[in-house]
Amino acid sequence: MRAIGVIPSKRTVSEINHATPSIRSGSEVKVRSLDVGICGTDREICTFVYGSPPDGSEYLVLGHESLGEIVAVGAGVKSLKVGDLVVPSVRRPCPHEHCQPCRADLQDFCATGDFIERGIKMTHGFMTEYYVDEEKYLNYVPPKLREVAVLVEPLTVAEKGLAQVWHVQKRLPWGHAGAALAKHGRGHGMRAVVLGAGPVGILGAMKLVAEGFQTYVYSRSKAPNYKADVVESFGAKYISSETVSVAELVARVGNIDLVYEAVGVGKISFQVMKALGTNGAFIFTGIPAPKPAVEVEADLIMRNVVLKNQLVVGTVNADRTAFVSAIQDLGIFIERWPTALRSLITGRFKPEAYRELLLGKSTGIKNVISFA
Ligand SMILES: NC(=O)c1ccc[n+]([C@@H]2O[C@H](COP(=O)([O-])OP(=O)(O)OC[C@H]3O[C@@H](n4cnc5c(N)ncnc54)[C@H](OP(=O)(O)O)[C@@H]3O)[C@@H](O)[C@H]2O)c1
Ligand SMILES: [Zn+2]
Ligand SMILES: [Zn+2]
Repeated sequence: MRAIGVIPSKRTVSEINHATPSIRSGSEVKVRSLDVGICGTDREICTFVYGSPPDGSEYLVLGHESLGEIVAVGAGVKSLKVGDLVVPSVRRPCPHEHCQPCRADLQDFCATGDFIERGIKMTHGFMTEYYVDEEKYLNYVPPKLREVAVLVEPLTVAEKGLAQVWHVQKRLPWGHAGAALAKHGRGHGMRAVVLGAGPVGILGAMKLVAEGFQTYVYSRSKAPNYKADVVESFGAKYISSETVSVAELVARVGNIDLVYEAVGVGKISFQVMKALGTNGAFIFTGIPAPKPAVEVEADLIMRNVVLKNQLVVGTVNADRTAFVSAIQDLGIFIERWPTALRSLITGRFKPEAYRELLLGKSTGIKNVISFA
């Protein structure tokens, strides 16, 4: 069967003849790949700074952002059937009995570090014609989301991050409740800044607008540009860091209640952290490669965190709840902003285009390999 993967020992990225998997237990499901999204993690694995094959395998099949269609189910599978569309989660639990998060199906909080990740760490991914997975790692997707459901996985980053924030902000009368929540969304009256206008940032911004936040996307490229147009088309405001300084950003926004960092750059992130408002929350999602140290106004930031009761939280995707929420929210986005949502998928390619997509210049917002 056709697959795309890396052979780290030979430093090659290539098409691989991978054995077709079959169901081995009653709880397994066989899935035919439809769409596989490509992201920075895949591209990094292709530079061999990251990623490891399963034990005993020379290669790692890539791909962790998948939409597939079920072609067979094990005898014990109850919630899914042949023909259903599904999105798999990525992380699988570590084997240690004492790892409480993994034993509670919260392997995104694995305490030992011995988790594995499909297409990334010690288990093959989804950039292949068929794969098999456990029922509990597959999330049902309604047919109306066929075109866009490959965006579920990158949206789970925002879903999980925001869930953490709402959890902690229960400490405050933060956000709306009751009738106001139903009418305006729980972020109504609050201001959010998203750093970065890549797929993680734009999907995060959509989520924040849908929740009622007045949302600003602060990113590098000068407007007008394609990403800025998409951002403005669903009601967020795009501001370029090339033309507007952090101080000017704050003057425009006012008290920043929430920062959703999706830029992956420490310097700009800490500059904006300095501007976080009273009782504000800062969500880090970026995973920058190690670089030389940058100067940070540590005393000022520390003082603000304390005196303004701020919250700083990191988030790595994601638990089942985040996947379920992402699927629900894509349903909302496609109703509200069908053109904007579809325009996040800037290219669909046949598998043979993998080389340019993984090793060439990064272009567009979300590029997808279609196996269908
Ligand atoms: N936590 C998780 O589970 C998780 C999962 C997936 C990804 N991530 C991380 O999320 C981050 C974003 O991912 P992505 O795929 O959306 O990234 P991306 O496509 O590379 O987008 C990054 C965005 O940030 C902008 N940018 C870069 N440097 C900047 C700077 N110095 N100042 C202002 N803007 C700058 C870029 O501007 P231009 O448009 O001008 O290029 C681009 O819009 C990455 O760090 C990635 O590692 C985390
Ligand atoms: Zn990804
Ligand atoms: Zn664990």
